[in-house]
Amino acid sequence: MAQKILLTGGAGFIGSHTYVALKNAGFDAVILDNFSNARRDVTDRLEVITGTPVTCIEGDVLSESLLDRIFADHDIAAVIHFAAQKAVGESVEKPLEYLNTNIAGLYALLRSMRRAEVFRLVFSSSATVYGQPDHLPVNETAGRSFNNPYGFTKLVCEQSLEQIAASDDRWAFGVLRYFNPVGAHETGLIGEDPNDIPNNLVPYIAKVATGELARLSVWGNDYDTPDGTGIRDYIHVMDLAKGHVQSLDALLTSGAGHVVNLGTGTGYSVLEVLQAYERACGHTLPYRIAPRRAGDVACVYGDTRLAKQILGFKAELGLDEMCASSWNWVARRKNT
Ligand code: WQD
Repeated sequence: MAQKILLTGGAGFIGSHTYVALKNAGFDAVILDNFSNARRDVTDRLEVITGTPVTCIEGDVLSESLLDRIFADHDIAAVIHFAAQKAVGESVEKPLEYLNTNIAGLYALLRSMRRAEVFRLVFSSSATVYGQPDHLPVNETAGRSFNNPYGFTKLVCEQSLEQIAASDDRWAFGVLRYFNPVGAHETGLIGEDPNDIPNNLVPYIAKVATGELARLSVWGNDYDTPDGTGIRDYIHVMDLAKGHVQSLDALLTSGAGHVVNLGTGTGYSVLEVLQAYERACGHTLPYRIAPRRAGDVACVYGDTRLAKQILGFKAELGLDEMCASSWNWVARRKNT
């Protein structure tokens, strides 16, 4: 009997790709999503990709009665918690909403899990907790900080999980610090699908490539980097999804918690990403140099050794595959 995993926020960008990776790995899965940042038809597309019906419950992770009902109706072995708000800029404008969804939402989930005696959780964290690291590549022992409410919520959630695990050894948490997830499933049926003008680089470039947006604004070219633009560790969303399955396997077999970076260990600049996307879409993409964006760091990319050692994780897909899969997704979406 396949072990069943609850994916909170499972209809979103990372969640939907992880759903596919879980099914490919022989797990069963239940999605809980309030569709605040996902389209309802993603479940139809997941059924096409996996060839099996999708169990998706519409609702909010803050609803403990709904969570209790899900645990009563389904024999859940573990939870992967994606349901959170994640736009850095928006978090500055709406800190209370981010605190409530991201922190109170985790606490509601943990209380319901405890009542159901489910003690395995994979938590979606972020390299944003590193701020601007003192040393690169940044490893998991680096100091943590925050410079916006979004980053604050990720840090508080990580520290809350540390306190809970230390107090009760029934719990085991897989804390995954994502770098910059980009790209799309090879079918082009699922991908990053922001509701409005994208904050993040690659979905913004994608809309320039389709003509939906006029040009990219490069936020600063006066950083201390080879071409002056910001450097990040971009990771293909399917590699990231694979990392979640490996984290889950580790929790379910060894019962040992872990905190690991999920990145490639390679940093690319904004202009290098733009050039890669030009190769993917086959035409040049207009841009302008604009002032730096508040809160941005110059350069961050991950040390990937611990994820390899603990989970056997290694990202396989490169920047050109990330951009080609993104272009395949947006070009297909524009034509449907
Ligand atoms: C990347 C680079 C920008 C847009 C954030 C969160 C992180 C994760 C990913 C959730 C930077 C530059 C961007 C644009 C640009 N979120 N840029 N023009 O800020 O590294 O990470 O999103 O999991 O937690 O912190 O990602 O894609 O916004 O920016 O020049 O229109 O692209 O300055 O150098 P970021 P990003």
